[in-house]
Amino acid sequence: MNRKLPFIKEKIEQISKKFPTPFHIYDEKAIIENAQKLKKAFSWNKGFKEYFAVKATPNPHILKTLQGVGFGSDCSSLGELVLCEKVGIVGENIMFTSNNTLPEEFVKAYKLGAIINLDDFTHIEFLEKCVELPDVISFRYNPGDLREGNVLIGKPCDAKFGFIKEQLFEGYKILKDKGIKRFGIHTMVASNELDPKYFIETVKMLLNLVDEISLKIGIKFEFINIGGGIGVPYKPDEQAVDLEFVGSEIEKVFDGRDLKLFMEMGRMITGPYGYLVTKVIHKKHIYKEYIGVDSCMSALMRAGMYGEYHEVIVLGKENNLKNFTYDVVGSLCENNDKFAIDRKLCEIDIGDNLVICDAGAHGLSMGFQYNAKLRPCELYLQKDGDVKLIRRAENLDDYFCTLDFSEF
Ligand SMILES: Cc1ncc(COP(=O)(O)O)c(C=O)c1O
Repeated sequence: MNRKLPFIKEKIEQISKKFPTPFHIYDEKAIIENAQKLKKAFSWNKGFKEYFAVKATPNPHILKTLQGVGFGSDCSSLGELVLCEKVGIVGENIMFTSNNTLPEEFVKAYKLGAIINLDDFTHIEFLEKCVELPDVISFRYNPGDLREGNVLIGKPCDAKFGFIKEQLFEGYKILKDKGIKRFGIHTMVASNELDPKYFIETVKMLLNLVDEISLKIGIKFEFINIGGGIGVPYKPDEQAVDLEFVGSEIEKVFDGRDLKLFMEMGRMITGPYGYLVTKVIHKKHIYKEYIGVDSCMSALMRAGMYGEYHEVIVLGKENNLKNFTYDVVGSLCENNDKFAIDRKLCEIDIGDNLVICDAGAHGLSMGFQYNAKLRPCELYLQKDGDVKLIRRAENLDDYFCTLDFSEF
């Protein structure tokens, strides 16, 4: 079955007269509807809050939309903190989950009043040296062998993130002795996970830990944060996580506890609602058939970097027979610069517009400038159907702006 897009060929042709391809385009209406669905699934928890992982789609317009739904922001760097400040997301609407943190990042997070989630035992002292201990502190737990993790994030044992269990006990004891009264705990051990059981297990794990620590150290937890990680069904045969099911199963596990549930999803919030639109500029026949487009990994590197699947739609030819096999490629001098490999598609012509689906999270934000390739613009397809430029495309001046040519 063909995937339903929020635009048709003619609309894209009209948009590209003003904003030439390539561009990312995000569907505001679908982002809001999906965000509301998530909120509803967890509305049984009075303190529920989603802190959108800013790294997924760090655009002020999208952050503002999500703020409107009641979401906070999960930041992990100085730049992300400043971005939120500029949008007006401050205080405990920010959860600061970083690792290998720089002093200036702790200072900014503290000044903004963010909830600081420490990644390591030694960061308690480091934070005190940078600023002082804030009112509320959370620790990131790494369960090691107890959980499997996955490809994107690695096995917990091999992952650089978080405290081991013994360190948690010691850490919370130190905080308690220093007079801290508000505590949280966080974990994140998988990314792009489509198995709903994973999230239910994570909650069980954290609740057991909360009970053990509370009993032993004599503290009361205010929240648990299960991190991000709900996946996106990139492949046509994959199923989206049933949020209602996950919500109601977690409600059972909570069993009426007085504890806030936080999460910091990124991918599932914007991923399926962002599209990279790119025009076919070359066709090449050697040992295989290549379709060359006007964008490359600088705009979306998931396929090239992780070998991830992104559905490709040939606009205006959605119902044509898929009897050709193509590699859809960019122009980088790297053979992994491919959006699709050996993909069954209909016959493609130069000038066709291709839509690379599910590009709305960890898409443009992971882009780069290798080979002096520039990042494209971002457009917002608004609720009323209008299209707004929310990030202009980079130009050569942007590429050269950090260089000084005065000696040449
Ligand atoms: C600490 C943290 N929280 C949340 C996220 C968001 O993950 P996802 O986009 O898979 O939901 C990430 C992703 O890298 C992360 O590192």
